[in-house]
Parts: sequence; C-alpha cells; structure tokens
Amino acid sequence: MRAFALVAAVAPLVRAFSDSHPLVAWSTESTWSLNVDSTGMQSADSVAAQLSSAPGLCDHDSIFVIHYPGLHVSDLQLLPTSSEFSSAITKAPSSALVPHLVAPSSHLAQLPSNISTLCNAPLGSSLAPRTPGKHIVHFRLKPIQSVSNGSARRAEVAETTARLARELAQHPSHLAVLVGTRAPAPNAKQGLFHRYQFLTPGVITVLLVVLGVLVPFLLFGVSTIATIKSPLTGESFKPVTAQKKNQ
Ligand SMILES: *[C@@H]1O[C@H](CO)[C@@H](O)[C@H](O)[C@H]1NC(C)=O
Ligand SMILES: *[C@@H]1O[C@H](CO)[C@@H](O)[C@H](O)[C@H]1NC(C)=O
Repeated sequence: MRAFALVAAVAPLVRAFSDSHPLVAWSTESTWSLNVDSTGMQSADSVAAQLSSAPGLCDHDSIFVIHYPGLHVSDLQLLPTSSEFSSAITKAPSSALVPHLVAPSSHLAQLPSNISTLCNAPLGSSLAPRTPGKHIVHFRLKPIQSVSNGSARRAEVAETTARLARELAQHPSHLAVLVGTRAPAPNAKQGLFHRYQFLTPGVITVLLVVLGVLVPFLLFGVSTIATIKSPLTGESFKPVTAQKKNQ
C-alpha cells in the first residue's frame, strides 16, 4: 500500500518533468535584462511575470514571442556553437536561458497580448519587417517533425532555428523570446516511447529517485519479513541428525 502511495505521489512529478520546455530570450538592446533563476524547474507564471516587468522591455521596436512545439532543452544544447542561431544569441548584448519551464503551453499563451498592452504596440503574427513603429509578434514555428531519428532531429532544429535567426536579423532593434511548448498529439503510428518521451532528462531523474527510494524501501521490507519468519523456519529445519540424537 505504501509503495503504491509513493508511485501515486511521483506520477504528477513525472508529468511535470515531461512537460518542461526551455525558454531563451535575447535582445539587441543592452538596456534590457531578464533576471531569472535558471536552475531547476521554473514556473511559467513567474517567468512570464519577470518578462513583463523586465527593465527596457518597451525599448525594442519589435518583440517576438516564438513558440516552438516539441522543443526540449537538449535540442538547444545539441546545436553547434557555430550555428547561426547560437551565434545570434552569443552576439546579443543581453540574453537569458531558462532550461526547464513547467507547462509553458498553457501559462505563456497570454504573454504576447500582455506585452502588447504593456508597450501599447499592435500585435501581429508575421516575422517579416514592417513599416516603422513598435510591434509585437506572436509566431508559431512548425512543430518538430523528426521525433524518432536523433540525427534528423538535430538537422531539423538547426535548420529551423537558423532560418529564424536570419529572419530576426532583419529587425535592427528586437527582443526575441523563443519558448518550447508541448509537442502536438502524436498520431497512431508512433510508438509508446515517442508519445511519453520516456528518456527526457527529467524522467531519468525521477527514475533515479524511484530507484534510490523505492528499491531500498522494498529491500528493507523484505529483510524485515525475513527476520520475523526466521525463528519459525529455524524450528522446522533443524538438522535431521540433531532430531535423531534427541529421540
Ligand atoms: C497577463 O495579464 C493578466 C492580467 O493582467 C495576468 O493575470 C496574467 O497572469 C498575465 N499572463 C502572462 C502570461 O503574462
Ligand atoms: C535518420 O536521418 C538521417 C538523416 O536525415 C538519415 O540519413 C538516416 O537514414 C535516418 N535513420 C533512420 C534510422 O531512419
């Protein structure tokens, strides 16, 4: 019963870990800065609040909030440092990375319209440069297609992010917020492992915790049972020779 309760307690944690995605923000303006805790799991609500109150937010001519369905922090870590996307971030006067944002899909949906209200700028959905004047853009990249092939996935993410970096480079003054969101529901052809993304770093952590807590717990239980039973088994398994001597 207790083991079952433990598993039940861990299950929401597994969901939270598998629904964690990265957020990377970079700006052409050195007046902008985002002070976020980039360690461990961060709540999307608190990061949205930090983004909305960041100094210099409305100094940008263009602010892009870009959703990338299926993106995990490992996808960004696997990008070569020489990639157009990585160098755009490295060259930016200010940038910030939150590797594990919990459930950004639902919590960051309102962010572009909130920024639009805050900065009193119209909200659009095109990356193409516009006529002068501030504008906020909410853009959704095509979801990651290559879910099962690591090298194809790397190539796809490198290609998509490079294209994004080239588009954004056309805007001299911009803030870009790229956030990974939940992958679209997989179709029936895909297997269990793709559907649940079993081997994300978060899930591996949970497995280690379960192995570290549950297994010693079970072993302890087994050894307790063994101590209780041992006097009885000791009785019934007295050496036959000893019994014969007593008779
Ligand atoms: C957007 O603004 C509303 C109202 O001010 C607030 O309740 C909500 O938390 C904000 N959400 C984000 C993602 O900024
Ligand atoms: C994975 O993708 C690469 C490059 O797109 C391709 O050459 C390779 O055959 C694919 N491997 C599998 C197992 O599908």
